Amino acid sequence: MEPKAVAESRTTMTEVVLPNDANAYGFILGGKVMHLMDMAAAVAAWRHCRKPVVTVSVDSVRFLSPVKVGQLILLDAFLTRSFRTSMEVEVHVFSEDPLTGQRMKTSDAFLTFVALGEDDRPTEVPPVKPETPEELRRYEAAMERRRRRLTTKS
Ligand SMILES: CC(C)(COP(=O)(O)OP(=O)(O)OC[C@H]1O[C@@H](n2cnc3c(N)ncnc32)[C@H](O)[C@@H]1OP(=O)(O)O)[C@@H](O)C(=O)NCCC(=O)NCCS
Repeated sequence: MEPKAVAESRTTMTEVVLPNDANAYGFILGGKVMHLMDMAAAVAAWRHCRKPVVTVSVDSVRFLSPVKVGQLILLDAFLTRSFRTSMEVEVHVFSEDPLTGQRMKTSDAFLTFVALGEDDRPTEVPPVKPETPEELRRYEAAMERRRRRLTTKS
């Protein structure tokens, strides 16, 4: 299969944080952030392989600072590496004040997706082609994360 560049599937999303998505203190719920992370990462995985995908693992989720109602929440999801049938996607989340434009990183996580064939069984995906030193660093680091995930799988 032809390798694909990270840029081909990189996915960004922006939403306004509304009161329905917030806790009693006016901050977005962690579960809502995780839902948005899953969506953005799934789209990136989908664009990479152009096949149906399912989430098989979510790890290293960090909540670094809160996002307030009325602020924008921005998501940036990109492939770090793919294996035979699975793809690791890293997601970074930011808050943005719509009036000042001030941005802050608020969360990050790694999600792994598996592509499914017509028989609903895992099927091969294209390799990732890292093109920058940063992409190469993330690509190489992905192998050790995969090893840890699969060691603790059962
Ligand atoms: C994803 C699923 C199809 C994998 O089935 P399976 O029988 O475990 O298939 P395999 O053992 O062949 O593994 C398939 C791939 O998943 C990877 N994988 C399995 N468990 C994993 C885990 N915990 N973390 C990371 N990768 C994992 C395997 O390494 C393999 O990837 P590779 O081919 O790139 O090496 C199956 O577990 C499933 O349907 N899970 C539910 C998915 C779902 O419903 N998600 C929605 C959210 S709940």
